[in-house]
Amino acid sequence: MATRMILKNGDPQLRKHCHEVKDFNPRLHMLLDDMRQTLAESNGVGLAAPQVGVLRRAVIVLETNVPDDEEEYMIELINPVIVETAGEQTGAEGCLSIPNEFGVVQRPDYVKVRAQDRHGEWFEVEGRGLTARAFCHEIDHLDGVLFIDKAIRMLSPEELEQQAKG
Ligand code: CO
Repeated sequence: MATRMILKNGDPQLRKHCHEVKDFNPRLHMLLDDMRQTLAESNGVGLAAPQVGVLRRAVIVLETNVPDDEEEYMIELINPVIVETAGEQTGAEGCLSIPNEFGVVQRPDYVKVRAQDRHGEWFEVEGRGLTARAFCHEIDHLDGVLFIDKAIRMLSPEELEQQAKG
């Protein structure tokens, strides 16, 4: 496993439409393992393949809504599609490709995703709150969409300071 460099806003690869994953081979598994390590070493809750320069429809999301005595875990989503949403949340959102900037983004509060796992098996997974937000954010990356495109407004330096303290 290796840590991969995360591309920063301004890199044209972050604005590309990503291709469907068709080969569930060792190369994909290496990418996912590297993405896991890269996410684990950052403070993020999700990472999309284009952020490490691979224009394929693969993302990982950290499930943080777990009971206190259980470990958070990463969900791998290959060729993910949002099949159901409900509710609404409005809150601050950031991105590992846009460090130190946060914006207020409206997202559904509940999201159901249909995706393939690393072996090509289809499954469905539900997310609420931050996980629902992360599903939407990461899947947006696969079509070259960044949260700054959807932000109602960006947080001010004062608000950022508050956020850092909180
Ligand atoms: Co992002």
